[in-house]
Amino acid sequence: MGQNNKTVCVIGLGYVGLPLAVRCVEKGYETYGLDMDESKIKLINSGKSPIKEKFLENYFPNIKPIATTDEKIIRKADIVLVCVPTPVDGMFTPDLGPVKSAIEAVTRNLKKGALVVLESTVNPGVSEEVIAPIFEKNKFKIGKDVHIAHCPERINPGDEKWNVTNIPRVVGSMDKKGLQIALDFYASIVDGEIRPMKSIREAEAVKIVENSFRDINIAFVNELAKSFDALDIDVMDVIKGASTKPFAFMPHFPSCGVGGHCIPVDPYYLIERAKQSGFDHKFLKIARETNNSMPAYAVELLQDALNEIRLPMKSTAVGVLGISYKSNVDDVRESPYFKIKKNLEKHGCKIISFDPHVARLSDVKSLKDLFKKSKALIIVTGHKEFKNLDPKIFKQNGIKVIIDGANCLDKDAIKKTGMIYKGIGR
Ligand SMILES: NC(=O)c1ccc[n+]([C@@H]2O[C@H](COP(=O)([O-])OP(=O)(O)OC[C@H]3O[C@@H](n4cnc5c(N)ncnc54)[C@H](O)[C@@H]3O)[C@@H](O)[C@H]2O)c1
Repeated sequence: MGQNNKTVCVIGLGYVGLPLAVRCVEKGYETYGLDMDESKIKLINSGKSPIKEKFLENYFPNIKPIATTDEKIIRKADIVLVCVPTPVDGMFTPDLGPVKSAIEAVTRNLKKGALVVLESTVNPGVSEEVIAPIFEKNKFKIGKDVHIAHCPERINPGDEKWNVTNIPRVVGSMDKKGLQIALDFYASIVDGEIRPMKSIREAEAVKIVENSFRDINIAFVNELAKSFDALDIDVMDVIKGASTKPFAFMPHFPSCGVGGHCIPVDPYYLIERAKQSGFDHKFLKIARETNNSMPAYAVELLQDALNEIRLPMKSTAVGVLGISYKSNVDDVRESPYFKIKKNLEKHGCKIISFDPHVARLSDVKSLKDLFKKSKALIIVTGHKEFKNLDPKIFKQNGIKVIIDGANCLDKDAIKKTGMIYKGIGR
């Protein structure tokens, strides 16, 4: 037993589960990690992190859990933390398959009286309507044989300040004792507020609200970007101006698309569940549609710019800078890059992609190689490697058009060289 006298099993060793497991080891819990991905388990046990992440860079492999694909490891646990994916399918329908199969594995192995916490993002109702029935079907009495809790994960990979050690948490449970065990556990691993919620549904709703809030605000500035393009106003300057108001304004920024496993996915969980109860989330749906339209908008900007200089889309060499969904990370899930690439392919463009953080999907080895081959550029991700590029380099390589999908380049300096620059709303 660890110094905290309890054994923890983390199911799903991804962006959420692996840092969490490392933190549990650091805090003295005997910690095991369970994942179905054998190659991931091999990497972890050989001391290599399958994920490039600041917190893991600092702690891993000096502190690491014992990882396995064998679900029997759950038998050792007093506390099981479920951190499996919650994706949507091609029609944006929530897929609770990974959560259900992880919980099935838990029912086959759980020690009676243990705590099971779902950290994955789900709509309000999943613990009571999906997880509890699986336990009940397997003869578990909720609140006695198993304590069910929900503590939505808020981790923000790549964040230098906020990580698994200090992000405040909310916790909800289906029973009083479960709530207390969960609160004590999170208080022992997090240096920050742990707030009990009155119900498990409230805890589930908190996370969906947080991410829908971001999605809606980003959709608002993306719509402003399109409007201000028509009005010839620089939306970035306006947002910076509005940010001087010290209260009741929070800046969000437009771009060529919203990516990642959370923001473009989570709102659909609420939209779908509310629909089942007869409520139509019009506002959330419009936000999703707006944000989903941005990759195509970036390609339209390119087409307009090429038209200005009488270059066809077909056969023009377009360098795409950035594959990951956000700056300075290697995570490509739901990245707008894929939609942009598909759209450019449809137009017959010759595509050359490069991301210094995603070598496996890059067509060239360096920016230099990409510049040499490109007539136009689309910036998808605002990586630090792209931000300080001297516009002269573009010009020297014969690049004529720059579409800045991340609004991260110096617009005035580029325009001064005579190249066409179009940002998203600037
Ligand atoms: N990535 C983030 O920034 C972030 C932040 C907050 C919340 N979340 C939420 O946390 C959850 C996990 O996200 P993630 O980014 O860590 O996902 P991930 O894909 O990085 O990791 C999930 C892991 O679970 C494993 N897995 C899938 N099904 C399994 C099963 N039945 N049994 C055992 N292992 C299984 C996968 O092999 C994978 O290694 C999601 O609900 C997500 O919405 C993610």
